[in-house]
Amino acid sequence: MIADTLDVIRRDLLLGDEDLLVLQPAAADAPGAPPLGAADEIREVGRTRPLLVVFPGRPDDKHFARLRDALWPDVHFVSLYDVDEAGGIERRMAGRSEALEGRVQGGRRTIVHTRTYDEALGPATTKLKFDLQAQSWNGAPGSPTYAHYRWMRRLIAVVAAPQMGERTLDAGCGTGWVGIEAARKGAMVSAFDASTEMVAIAGRNADEVDVDLDARPGFVEDVPFDRAFDLVLNSGVISFAPDPDVYLDRLDALVAPGGRLCIGDINPESRGFARRRARFPLIPARELNGLTRRTVEEKLVARGYTLQRALYYQLSFPVPELMALSEKKLGGFGCGLMLSLNKAACSLDQRTGSRGRRWFDSWIILARKGAAPGGSSDGDASHGGPTDSGAET
Ligand SMILES: C[S@@+](CC[C@H](N)C(=O)[O-])C[C@H]1O[C@@H](n2cnc3c(N)ncnc32)[C@H](O)[C@@H]1O
Repeated sequence: MIADTLDVIRRDLLLGDEDLLVLQPAAADAPGAPPLGAADEIREVGRTRPLLVVFPGRPDDKHFARLRDALWPDVHFVSLYDVDEAGGIERRMAGRSEALEGRVQGGRRTIVHTRTYDEALGPATTKLKFDLQAQSWNGAPGSPTYAHYRWMRRLIAVVAAPQMGERTLDAGCGTGWVGIEAARKGAMVSAFDASTEMVAIAGRNADEVDVDLDARPGFVEDVPFDRAFDLVLNSGVISFAPDPDVYLDRLDALVAPGGRLCIGDINPESRGFARRRARFPLIPARELNGLTRRTVEEKLVARGYTLQRALYYQLSFPVPELMALSEKKLGGFGCGLMLSLNKAACSLDQRTGSRGRRWFDSWIILARKGAAPGGSSDGDASHGGPTDSGAET
């Protein structure tokens, strides 16, 4: 009965019979059985190969979210196929869903497509994902939320404060806005990204604003430059790293002695991400793989860095929701106000010693390679002490 459903899904995934193992966990045999009970059976095979896991009925999203958490990091949920009573199939992925063509027999069931950790975060997956999404990562100039988008994109370069002529690298540059910001401040910027589409857009963006950007395809783990830089910028990339220690070792090799490294990424401690993890069964692997600011600070200190600045930014709630509402339904009303709110909250958090880490979706760390002159921290304290704003436009 289920064969026709699996055929539809395999066609949808452009895969043949041999590529996916079908698992019908005994622990999830009865409709309504909590899917969490099937975790061990799924992990056993799913840690080494992709699966289609079949559940009878339609378990609640929150139960699937718990199962996903229990399986991470061995197994990741990529998509979920809902078969309804009438045989219609809906494919759900993180943030979107679509009805598939055709009808199948056999009643209500749910099929989860899983990947291994290495596959979910492997270089081929990263490149494909960002090649497909490159245009949407460029922001939409003219849209009401564009000013906010630019604020987030350029903040790492603002915090790093590049000097005129400083040899700077934007590692994982995406559409280039962080490196472009540094170039506008007079830095000599090289850049690379896993996605060739992103690199092409970064080059066009640099041309449009008339700055030099030497952008090339490449991975932090396989860098297309063979020299070190005075300043390395790394915005929103470390959560894609399958092995953050290897990743940080490679970034470190790119920083000249006495040079600076400025890293920023999603904050897994935020209320917003916690809510998403609890509510949605399908979320991007990076949201499960993100590191806390404290963890990255410790890893940098262990590699001989001196922390100069650290901050949280991007209010988790309700700004993203209100921005989306404003853009889609209210013609952009209030977007400027929300950007001001975000900047004010970021500044206040820094002045009060970063106590609000659960309120912010992202963090930034600026660190210098080697001991600070005189042996102490050569900038603002990263824990507890006030840091300067970084929330400028
Ligand atoms: C969330 S986007 C951020 C882009 C840009 N840095 C920004 O802040 O706008 C993540 C980018 O990192 C790239 N990426 C992910 N893993 C990478 C790696 N290991 N090496 C180089 N680039 C990587 C992706 O291709 C993507 O363009």
